[in-house]
Amino acid sequence: MTIQVVRTFSDPVLRKKADPIKQITPEIKTLARDMLETMYCSKGIGLAAPQVGVSQRIVTIDISNEGEELHPMVFINPEITKSSGQVDYEEGCLSVPGYHGVVIRPEQVTVRFQTLDGQNKTIPCKGLLARVLQHEIDHLDGVLFTDHLDVDWWESEEGQHMEKDHPRFSETTKFRTSAA
Ligand code: NI
Repeated sequence: MTIQVVRTFSDPVLRKKADPIKQITPEIKTLARDMLETMYCSKGIGLAAPQVGVSQRIVTIDISNEGEELHPMVFINPEITKSSGQVDYEEGCLSVPGYHGVVIRPEQVTVRFQTLDGQNKTIPCKGLLARVLQHEIDHLDGVLFTDHLDVDWWESEEGQHMEKDHPRFSETTKFRTSAA
């Protein structure tokens, strides 16, 4: 297994719409394992392939609590088929390190995807799983959580930076379990 470098917000791969996976090859299985390893190593609860520089529609998630048994999940070509409700929640992202912001999203979603064994599944999700899945599916479409915030960006020689003083932002690392 190989731990990959997590790309951060100025990397163009994070802004590309990722390609559907047509066939679950051994390379895709290796990618899934590498993504899980990278996610655990970065103390994240979700990761999308573009975050490791691969523009393909695959997501890994583990929302188990620290100290509990690991519960790795892999979603291939995930797609939201139904959503309802509305809830706000403070999100973070491994690709936007050090920043968190409150994002309003549907509370419940139904997600259709394929497993690593190629089975088609459709599952209803709520709570943290629904939240992380929506955040990760956004990544597959080139969207970052910061796009949902009413916040200004400014450019510097190093690239894009966020307006730090915006009230909907809290610069903190204490919510480590919400980094995805
Ligand atoms: Ni993220």
